Amino acid sequence: MNPTITASMQAVEITEPGGPEVLRLCRRPVPQPGAGEVLIKVAAAGVNRPDVMQRLGLYPPPPGATDIPGLEVAGEIVALGTNTAGLAVGDQICALVSGGGYAEYCLAPALLCLPIPNGLTLLQAAALPETFFTVWSNVFDRGRLQPHETLLVHGGAGGIGTTAIQLAAVWGASVYATAGSDAKCRVCKSLGAKAAINYREEDFVERIQALTQGRGVDVILDSIGGDYLQRNLSCLAMDGRLLQIGVQNGPKTQINLLPIMLKRLTLTGSTLRPRSVKEKAVIADALQTKVWPVLASGRVKPLIHSTFPLADAADAHRLMEQSGHIGKLVLTVNDG
Ligand SMILES: NC(=O)c1ccc[n+]([C@@H]2O[C@H](COP(=O)([O-])OP(=O)(O)OC[C@H]3O[C@@H](n4cnc5c(N)ncnc54)[C@H](OP(=O)(O)O)[C@@H]3O)[C@@H](O)[C@H]2O)c1
Repeated sequence: MNPTITASMQAVEITEPGGPEVLRLCRRPVPQPGAGEVLIKVAAAGVNRPDVMQRLGLYPPPPGATDIPGLEVAGEIVALGTNTAGLAVGDQICALVSGGGYAEYCLAPALLCLPIPNGLTLLQAAALPETFFTVWSNVFDRGRLQPHETLLVHGGAGGIGTTAIQLAAVWGASVYATAGSDAKCRVCKSLGAKAAINYREEDFVERIQALTQGRGVDVILDSIGGDYLQRNLSCLAMDGRLLQIGVQNGPKTQINLLPIMLKRLTLTGSTLRPRSVKEKAVIADALQTKVWPVLASGRVKPLIHSTFPLADAADAHRLMEQSGHIGKLVLTVNDG
C-alpha cells in the first residue's frame, strides 16, 4: 500500500434505518483493493435517491458490498489490486460503485472506472456514473429509443431526469418531461425537452395525447410507479416501451391489461446496483464510446444543484427528500 495512505479514514455511516440524522461521520479502516479493484482517493461523491432508500432501510446493499452509502465517485487512483490493466496510480477517474462513496477512500471495480470526460472537473464527473449507467441501460439499451421516436421522462428535473432529457434530445428524439413546478419545467425545456408538464397542475395523459396528436409516445422512463402505471399505458403509442426504474408512488397497483395487448406494449425495468460487474462493464464500454465524446463536446453536462462537505451528507439527504433540488447533489471530500 502507498505509504502516504493513512490506516483509517473519515466516512459517513447509516447508524440505523431512519431520517437524515442517522447519517453520522465515523472512522473506518481504509479498504485494501482486491483482484480487479482499485482504491480511489475520493474528491467528490454523487448523492442519489437510492442512497435515501438505503438510509431508510428499504434498499439494502447487495451481498459483499460495504454498508457505507454512495454509488458513484470521482478522484485519483492511489492503489491497484491485481488484474487492473490499463489503470495506473495517479489516474483521475470516475467510477460506479456498489457502495462506499461517502468516504475519503473508496474501492471500485477497475472495469467500472471511466476517464474524466475532457473539460469536466472531478466534481462534475462524480455526478455522472449512477445516472448515466441507468439512463443508458434503460432508455437506449432495453428501451431501444430511436432518434425519430418520442420519449416521456417522469421526474424530469431530478438527477436521472436531467440526464435522460439531455441524452435523448442530443440523440435526436423528441422528449417530453413531467416535473413538480413551473421552474422545474422551465429547466427541463432548457435541457432539450420539447414540452414539460407540471404534474401538480395538469393531467400528463391528456397533455401527452394533445402534444402527440393522440398517437402517444414510443418510450417512457418512469421512476414513479403506483397509479402512474395505468396512466403510462394510456400514454404509450403502438409498440411502446415502458421502462420502470423506480417506485416513488409505491410498488403495487391494479391495472387493466388490455392496452398491453391492443398496443403490443413492452413493460420492462431494471435495477443497476445488483447487476454483476461484468454486466455493468458492458454499459461502461458503451458509455465511453458513445456518450463520453458527447460530454467532452459540451452538448451534454451534468446539472449540479449544490455541493455539501462530506460531514453534511444529512443536509444533502434532507434537500433531496424535499425535492428541493434540480439536477444532482454532490458531496465534496478530499479537496473536491
Ligand atoms: N433502477 C435503477 O437502476 C435506478 C438507478 C438510479 C435511480 N433510480 C430511481 O430513479 C428515481 C430518480 O432518482 P434520482 O437520483 O434522479 O432522484 P431525484 O434527483 O430526487 O429525482 C426524482 C425526481 O422525481 C420528481 N417526482 C417525484 N414525484 C413525481 C411525480 N409524481 N411525477 C413526476 N415527477 C415526480 C421529483 O421532484 P418533483 O416532484 O418536484 O418534480 C424529483 O425531481 C428514484 O426513484 C430512484 O430510486 C433507479
